[in-house]
Amino acid sequence: MSRTTIPDLYEKYEGGEPLTMLTAYDAPIAAQVDAAGVDMILVGDSAGDNHLGYDDTLPVTLDEALSNAAAVVRGTEEAFVVADLPFLTYGTSTAESVENAGRFLKEAGADAVKLETAPYGETTIEIVDRLTELGIPVQGHVGFTPQRKQEIGGAYVQGRDTDTSSSGEAIVETARRLAEAGAFSIVLETVSEGVAREVTEAVDVPTIGIGSGRYVDGQVLVINDVLGLGAEPYSLSKQYADLDAEIRDAVERYVEEVESGAFPTRDNAFDPIDEE
Ligand code: KIV
Ligand code: NA
Repeated sequence: MSRTTIPDLYEKYEGGEPLTMLTAYDAPIAAQVDAAGVDMILVGDSAGDNHLGYDDTLPVTLDEALSNAAAVVRGTEEAFVVADLPFLTYGTSTAESVENAGRFLKEAGADAVKLETAPYGETTIEIVDRLTELGIPVQGHVGFTPQRKQEIGGAYVQGRDTDTSSSGEAIVETARRLAEAGAFSIVLETVSEGVAREVTEAVDVPTIGIGSGRYVDGQVLVINDVLGLGAEPYSLSKQYADLDAEIRDAVERYVEEVESGAFPTRDNAFDPIDEE
């Protein structure tokens, strides 16, 4: 099988089949996600709190993100790989945005980049226009945008209010402009279900929801939340495994066996010495 393309994704989308997406930040986990048949892997800046030990996404550097993306690409064969552009690596100027986004394709081998857009965020909408004109596919991201969490004031549901910048109308209109600018898909994060459905009806590109309910074209979750690995899970996620417990158990048994002399045995030695 060869690498999934945007036309492959659109074939599924146009056939009414839900698209699947999960994050990954390193080669071995990405390899399992890929082998299990996920359509898209997001090398999210959620690496900040899920992979790199930061409190949130803001400190993630361009070099860290490039390194994670390259590892995920090396570890996979089929999934379409989307790389998140870290905080302030885009939007500062068009030239810098293009140069930084381009590195994810040219150096890391990613298939597309993703960037966050604030309600009516003209600067980033223009950047999506420029990047896609140049051949860098972009996935949009609206609703709760974690890079703006200081400004938003917390991980609040977006689209509930009627008269603020986070209104449902603002989210629908921002998504519409992103699609017009050339985004091939749009992530909706923590958006009320009715607004997510409105966006999905308003745009002719696949919407990918996280904590945004049922009426979207696909779903994305953070792999650590799905696997029960490390960081505090997102409240609307679903946990399918308990890797923390599995890892702790395995390591405790290893420590016990080394300390008791049960490991290593003769089978773990090259040219073992046969004692009298
Ligand atoms: O970084 C990330 O994991 C994301 C998803 C939550 C969409 O942007
Ligand atoms: Na992200």
